Amino acid sequence: MSATLRIEDLRVGRRGGHGPDLLRGVDLELRSGETLALVGESGSGKSLTGLALLGLLDEGLELRGGRIGLAGRDLASLAPRARRALLGRELAAIFQDPGAALNPHHRVGPALVEILRHRGGLDRRAARQKALRLLADCGLDEVERIAASHPHRLSGGQKQRAMIAMAIALDPDFLVADEATTALDVATQARVVELLDRLRRERGLGLLFISHDLGVVQRLADRVALMYAGRVVESAPAALFFAGPRHPYGRALLAARPTLFGPFERRAPIAGSAPGPEEIGAGCAFAPRCPLARATCHEVDPPARALADGRTLACPVAEEGG
Ligand SMILES: Nc1ncnc2c1ncn2[C@@H]1O[C@H](COP(=O)(O)OP(=O)(O)OP(=O)(O)O)[C@@H](O)[C@H]1O
Ligand SMILES: [Mg+2]
Repeated sequence: MSATLRIEDLRVGRRGGHGPDLLRGVDLELRSGETLALVGESGSGKSLTGLALLGLLDEGLELRGGRIGLAGRDLASLAPRARRALLGRELAAIFQDPGAALNPHHRVGPALVEILRHRGGLDRRAARQKALRLLADCGLDEVERIAASHPHRLSGGQKQRAMIAMAIALDPDFLVADEATTALDVATQARVVELLDRLRRERGLGLLFISHDLGVVQRLADRVALMYAGRVVESAPAALFFAGPRHPYGRALLAARPTLFGPFERRAPIAGSAPGPEEIGAGCAFAPRCPLARATCHEVDPPARALADGRTLACPVAEEGG
């Protein structure tokens, strides 16, 4: 079954209306069976987008507007309890630190069985069998031993796989992976990325893959959405994006990518730094750093427009070929 998650004009800020919007109208579309990568500098709003989507925003934050459309409902307007009921079933998440997601006092197998029995409605026997199958399906060997282990007995890669097994236990349609492979060594990272890609294919998962690592993104993503200062400024099929983004920020970001021959040396870093939420004026947030900026760019924040090649782009100057 194919499902689409449609995020429109999502706004998040501090609770009580204090301060500026941190997400300033995010638009995204994610289909099951597809990987959408969210990229952009630190602080651009990637994690907040994932958390808002999951209904897991920090207590000090609130949704200020927007819609999260899924299967004819608007998740943004659901009560917190109804929202939580969807977690694991329709939307699930994995994060950088599996330690935080796995209860240190619970052995891995019983923790999985608990999810499958109490939320999945399986009896003990069926839940036990399925738990072992899930662990094996997530590429773990010696599943009996892993199931009987407490998390601290597992390696980083094994913990990450156990966390993925829990996340997909109830067969969610969508999985948010926020820097989920970042803390792993390169070889383990590659295997976990392969696992996520296989789960996407085999289970038709829609993957929202948040990462700083453009190399991994290039391997995994069907589409890329580029965020800057709380907005998506360009989204494109991955092949088009990596062949050449249109947004000046995207061009600068790719030009600053470490090269194969000088992995420790960043080329052409982007001048200036990303503005904090309090520093964003009326115009395009990138205008102060932008080589293409015209007077109007400092006055009007351009909306994203759909282009004929499948991109969306929030830069009229680049759209004109500037
Ligand atoms: N709980 C919070 N309270 C107040 N501001 C927050 C909170 N969480 C995030 N922010 C602010 O919201 C903006 C977006 O943060 P977010 O964590 O989404 O960035 P990110 O793109 O995930 O960055 P990174 O790549 O470093 O993970 C930042 O300006 C950040 O300081
Ligand atoms: Mg983040």
